[in-house]
Amino acid sequence: MTNKEIIESYNRSKESLNPILDELQDINGFISKEDISKIANYLEITEKEIMIFLKYKKNIKLEKQGENIVIVCKGPNCLKKGSIEIIQEIEKNFDVKEGHTSKDGKLTLETKNCFKKCGFAPNVEINGKLYSNCTKENIVKILKNVIY
Ligand code: FES
Repeated sequence: MTNKEIIESYNRSKESLNPILDELQDINGFISKEDISKIANYLEITEKEIMIFLKYKKNIKLEKQGENIVIVCKGPNCLKKGSIEIIQEIEKNFDVKEGHTSKDGKLTLETKNCFKKCGFAPNVEINGKLYSNCTKENIVKILKNVIY
């Protein structure tokens, strides 16, 4: 089934927006700009309405996710202990920007407000595993070990 066919298998009503987004996310791992446009046309709503809806729907990704998901904590304790420097180090070494995926598709860099492990700050989650007491010096080494 194409994405267009999936979209059009739903009733043409606003209530279909949520399940359409969920199904396309499940199948493709993200929702493309083209799909947002197709959904808007089919449901006769604006793309802006969809984007506003998406602000509250955190499971939906607007970009293809990398093979490895890296989430750096930007909560107050982690910030105090250097999480910004860790983010900058990852950006520099893996050619990726916060909130995006590297061009080679290897890594998506995200942030989070708190992992509730503040005593071990700064914390970085890599593919679901939490790494504590990270430093800008050791984060690249850790990532290279996990990724390559
Ligand atoms: S502030 Fe980073 S784990 Fe709580």
